[in-house]
Parts: sequence; structure tokens; C-alpha cells
Amino acid sequence: VLKTEIIDHYSESLSLPVIQKQFVGVDTQYKLVDGDSSQRIYLDSAASCLMLKPALKAGIKFLEHYSNTHSNIHFSAKVTNSSYQWAHKKILDFVSANSDDYSAIFIGSGATAAINRAAKLFRQQRPEKNGVLISIMEHHSNDLPHRMHHDFYHHIPCVGSDKDLGAVCLKSLKILLKEKQNTINYIAVTAASNVTGIVNPIHDIAELAHEYGAMIIVDASQYAAHKPLQINDSNNPARALDALVLSGHKLYSPGSPGVLVIRNSLLSSSVPVELGGGMVDTVYTDEYISLNEFPDREEAGTPNIFGAITLAMTLDVLDRLDMSEVARHEKKLLEHLFDLLKKIPDLVIYGDNNLSLYPRTATISFNLAGVDHELLACILNDYFNIAVRNECFCAHPYVREMILKELWEIDPDSKDEEIESKKGMVRASFGLYNTMDHVNALAQALFDISTNKEFYQKQYLLQSNGHYKHKSYQMRELDLLHPEKILESELLALSSY
Ligand SMILES: Cc1ncc(COP(=O)(O)O)c(C=O)c1O
Repeated sequence: VLKTEIIDHYSESLSLPVIQKQFVGVDTQYKLVDGDSSQRIYLDSAASCLMLKPALKAGIKFLEHYSNTHSNIHFSAKVTNSSYQWAHKKILDFVSANSDDYSAIFIGSGATAAINRAAKLFRQQRPEKNGVLISIMEHHSNDLPHRMHHDFYHHIPCVGSDKDLGAVCLKSLKILLKEKQNTINYIAVTAASNVTGIVNPIHDIAELAHEYGAMIIVDASQYAAHKPLQINDSNNPARALDALVLSGHKLYSPGSPGVLVIRNSLLSSSVPVELGGGMVDTVYTDEYISLNEFPDREEAGTPNIFGAITLAMTLDVLDRLDMSEVARHEKKLLEHLFDLLKKIPDLVIYGDNNLSLYPRTATISFNLAGVDHELLACILNDYFNIAVRNECFCAHPYVREMILKELWEIDPDSKDEEIESKKGMVRASFGLYNTMDHVNALAQALFDISTNKEFYQKQYLLQSNGHYKHKSYQMRELDLLHPEKILESELLALSSY
């Protein structure tokens, strides 16, 4: 019933300009330093994306039938179970994974739980392989879990040096694989960096890994919302991925779980790592027999049913839009952004800027000489209503390597907070709802800041806690939205209250 409803909801004319306006929060307004309100420009999608409205609305319709997936007989239980199964299938379809070979497991509240699960499971599979190779580009979530479950690890460098790092270096990877023959369990690599947006050749890496008896786990958290993603490549089994991780809240579905897509052969030859209701066949006082069905055995407890279904609905919309179309849109934004930013004095964009050699998702990180990253993020927010992220984006080794030169230049006699305030970058990350106007607005703002540094610097104070504060303007977040007050107004709207 649900799927038919969605198909009816969208016509053939589903197009990017139509969908671009269909996100909760694309028109949110905030009052800025000058007292005027304007529309927020959301450039923080690499952290979390805004929610796709049609999926939310369809998800709320599903809630009219909501029940637990562990119930089976009543009508709602049947609707919930079939919708939840559809969600699993939708995930596999989205990455072109065949259900004979792969299972999709909903887990945790993002990519982190899925990666931890994969690390545990892969180590359990091959205890004799006690090492792992991790790219230097990784978010901590695709680095630390692998370190924890193995006796040794090496970081694979990227091509290039300093601020001009490119993708993961295949030559260095090959050398490491040769050197560590038979000891490497798997390679953990991101499909795209959360800092520079630079894309890695994941299927080439898979082929290399398999040639040397290693497996591969790909973190697609920063990639899946931006470019077409396939678990297989060129009908060559050696180029297929062994596990793939998605993060629902980075796929226009806040409140949804993370996803692990993994080979069935790896699941069937392992024992479950999380136990509880829903994953067992029979339990006695002295033993239990686990289910032998996937993904059920891997999803102990009541899952995030609503989140999984709205995520799958979102992926359905992305499929209908066609991810190649999404990628084309973002490529245009990125190229225009690069053209404009290259003209801004003192602006350094991190990562190799040759976009044809090192393609990116529409994510970039930069610094403006003389303006600390937090100060720049504050100015963009307070004066221009542009929401960006700053600091090291949970990718310290990668960020450190790119800003090493700047760090050497810091006067060692500076105060602690002054030194700390230099360690980081500003990140602007674009999504489906962003337009050329947003690109122009960012470039215009950065140009203005770059040419009026002194004015902006004078408006802020660097506090001893290392954070910047505007000298006269203060925004109280509870004035923007107070959870209790907003609930109260909902309750007051009920005539019987
Ligand atoms: C590349 C990458 N991997 C993993 C994560 C962790 O994801 P989550 O917050 O969904 O657990 C992030 C979050 O920013 C990320 O960018």
C-alpha cells in the first residue's frame, strides 16, 4: 500500500528544481547582527542533511499503521513488517546489491555503530589476520574501531603533500599490502572525505585488497547522498565491496539509523555480536539458538522502524531523481564555487584543487589567512546567515597533515587559546537544496570578509576558553526555539485543552 502511495504521489515530472524546495528548514529565517531577518543558507550537510518532506509525510502516514516488528498477526503488524522489509530491500537496490549476496542491517543512529559492528565481525571472521590498513583521510569513526579490534594498523597516505593532498595513494597501498602479506584483514576507506570531499577509487582499492587476500570496508557516509553508488563494479567480482556503510542522517533523513550492507557469506560464517529479542529462535534457561536469517539475526531488539522506513523512502526519491542528475547538479555548484573562491585574496582551499584528477562531492574546507576558523564561521553566521562547520571535523590526522605548515608558523609564545584557535578549518558542504545563489552568497561573503578583516575582527573577542564572542550581538537559542514552549503552543491549539 505504502509504495503505491509514494508512486502516486510523484509523477513522471519529479525533477530536481521541484525536490530542491521540498526540505524541512530550507526557508528558516534568522535575525542577524543588523537586526534584519534573512533566510538561512545551510552549508553544513556533511554534518547532517535537512529532512526530505515527502519522505517525512509518507513516514507519518506509515505511523498510522505503526506497530512493533516483533508482532505478527494484527493488521498493523503485517503493514509494519512488510514496510520494514521493503526498507531493507530499498537499501540494497540503492547500492545495486543482490539480496542473494548481501544483507542490509539497520543499526545505531548513524554510521558509527555500523562501522563498529563491521570491525568486530570482520575480526571475528579471521582472527589470524591481525592487522588493518586505514586511510589517513578517515573520520575517526572509520579509524578507531578498526584500531581497537586489531593488533596493529597502518595509515595509507594520500597522493601529494601539505594542503594539496589528493585521493588515497594506490602505490603506497600496494607497497603496504606486499610488506604485510597475509596479515592484513581488511582495508577501511572512505568513499569521499568529510573534509575535502575528495573521492577515492573504492573499486580499484577493492581489487588491490582482494589481490592480497584482504577485504574492504567502505564508509560511504559522505558519498551516498552525492553520487551514484554501486557495491559491485564492471561485473568483476574482485572489484566488489565486502561491506559498505551508510549514515541515514547524512541522507536527508534525520532520526534514521545507520546501515551496514555486508556479504551474506560473512554473516553466515559468524556468530551474532549483539544478543536480545528478535534475533533468537528458541531460548532455554541454559542455552539459546540464534536465528539463521539475515538481517533478522543482526538486528537484536526493536529497531528504529520509523527511521529505517523514512530513510528508505528518501532513497526511493533519490533513485527517482537519479543520482547521476544529483551528481551533475553538485558538480556545477562545485566548479562555480572553485572559480569564485580562487579569486579571493588570502583564501586557502585544502586538498588538490584539480577537480578532474581528484573529483569531489560538493564539500570544501578552507581558511582565510589572518581570520581564525571559528571567527570566520561566526562571521559567516552572524553577518551573512551562512551555516558552516569549523574545527577538525573528527578527522584530526588528515586535517593536521594539511595545516601543518600553518601550525609551524604560529608564534610559540602565543597564549594557549590563540594557538588552539589556529588548529582547524572551515567547511562548506552543499546538498540537494543548495543553488547557485548559495554559492554566490558564500563567495560574496568571503570576499567581503577578506577585504574587511579588521572591521570584523574588532567586533569579536577571543575568550580564555578559546571561543569567539561578538561584543554586542547575542543570539539566545531558546528564543529561536524552546522545546517546551513549542509543545505548549501545539497543545494550546487543541480546542479541548
Ligand atoms: C566519513 C564519515 N564517516 C563516519 C561518520 C560518523 O557518522 P555518524 O555521525 O553518522 O555516526 C561521519 C560523520 O561526520 C563521516 O563524515
